[in-house]
Amino acid sequence: MYNFEYKNPVKIIFGKDKISKVSNEIPEGAKVLLTYGGGSIKRTGVYEQVINALDNVSLVEFGGIEANPHYETCMQAVKVVKAEKIDFLLAVGGGSVLDATKFIACAALYENGDPWDFMAKPGEVRVEKALPLGAILTLPATGSEMNGNSVITRVSIQEKKAFGSPLVMPQFSILDPQCVFTLPNKQVANGIVDAFIHVFEQYLTFEVNSPLQDRWAEGILSTLIEEGPKVLADRNDYESAANFMWSATVALNGMIAVGVPQDWATHLIGHELTAYHGIDHARTLAIVLPGMMHIKRDNKKDKILQYGERIWGIATGSDDERIDATIAKTVEFFESVGIPTKLRDYDVPTETITKITDRFEKSGEKIGEKADIDFAEVGAILEHAL
Ligand code: NZQ
Ligand code: ZN
Repeated sequence: MYNFEYKNPVKIIFGKDKISKVSNEIPEGAKVLLTYGGGSIKRTGVYEQVINALDNVSLVEFGGIEANPHYETCMQAVKVVKAEKIDFLLAVGGGSVLDATKFIACAALYENGDPWDFMAKPGEVRVEKALPLGAILTLPATGSEMNGNSVITRVSIQEKKAFGSPLVMPQFSILDPQCVFTLPNKQVANGIVDAFIHVFEQYLTFEVNSPLQDRWAEGILSTLIEEGPKVLADRNDYESAANFMWSATVALNGMIAVGVPQDWATHLIGHELTAYHGIDHARTLAIVLPGMMHIKRDNKKDKILQYGERIWGIATGSDDERIDATIAKTVEFFESVGIPTKLRDYDVPTETITKITDRFEKSGEKIGEKADIDFAEVGAILEHAL
């Protein structure tokens, strides 16, 4: 196992009707910006719960944050933060609202140029200050509620990029599984697959003798496989919703990443598909992952075999046969929850592959747990999804 340091200060308040407790968590006398998305919180009753709970708090609202949140929208919110002298941010929504709010929190205090540089120049420009924020999560998927990551799209240049800082970890996150009841199938499926592939990015790499982290990771995968379909079958099944919600949080709160190599190449390629075609984040991952497993079967061999055997019971045949069967089982699972895995399912033309590989060639970036995936391999991985 590698050496590691781990600190996660996010207070999780989990359970039925916990949104009503939000005022306990807001600092005394704070002027709060309530951020939200395209209006689902008004339709689901979450907005009303929040407003009722915060009747003694000074509130300003900023709605209209889109899925795959835009830099351009966030910068409008930054203007509001400055004009209204906001000192606390409360994000109410899915990963997009939370990520946008994290970016707003540090962009509002950045004085050395364009805050897009947090994403564009991660080696050079670091977050040094951020307003404190809290979250009420309405969609289990990204883990944003318990990590310091944020992914922002700059529409004008068709780029989607991530940044991370402990300074934008929420002070608290409220997780009421009842929020799952109002999610459409499409978003439940996205949440299952996004969380599943978060586990993969931290588990399906190479062996470093980390049996505990492996079993935590496998525990999350098994739980998603068991509980995800129950949520799809009965949206009002509170217990399954609760298990799904907590699985998605721990899939990306840093715990399973401690002491082990991490990949994230599937995400980096997936973000390009969203940047060019607006495809839902989880769906881009489902497109990229099978090709990633296929092309990187040598790097990932031991872990793919372990995953195939422990999760799907695939234990016979040659190594290559077992790997092929494991990839097929994984694709079958994604499709069973309603997520297709081929580029043609999303009307992505082959020219997009060239655009994406050109970007990787130009930047010279090599990705994956061994930093050995170059632009040509990115192309081969995407061609596998044709
Ligand atoms: O915008 P509103 O009207 O609120 O509707 C949303 C949105 O249309 C709706 N929704 C949310 N909660 C609902 C609901 N509808 C009914 N009932 C509810 N309870 O769902 C739609 C999708 O919401 P969004 O927040 O975009 O989804 P998700 O949570 O999947 O977030 C995706 C974003 O997170 C980023 C992705 O790249 C993408 O931009 N990620 C963030 C990560 C992180 N911070 O660690 C890691 C992930 O890998 C991911 O990259
Ligand atoms: Zn993801």
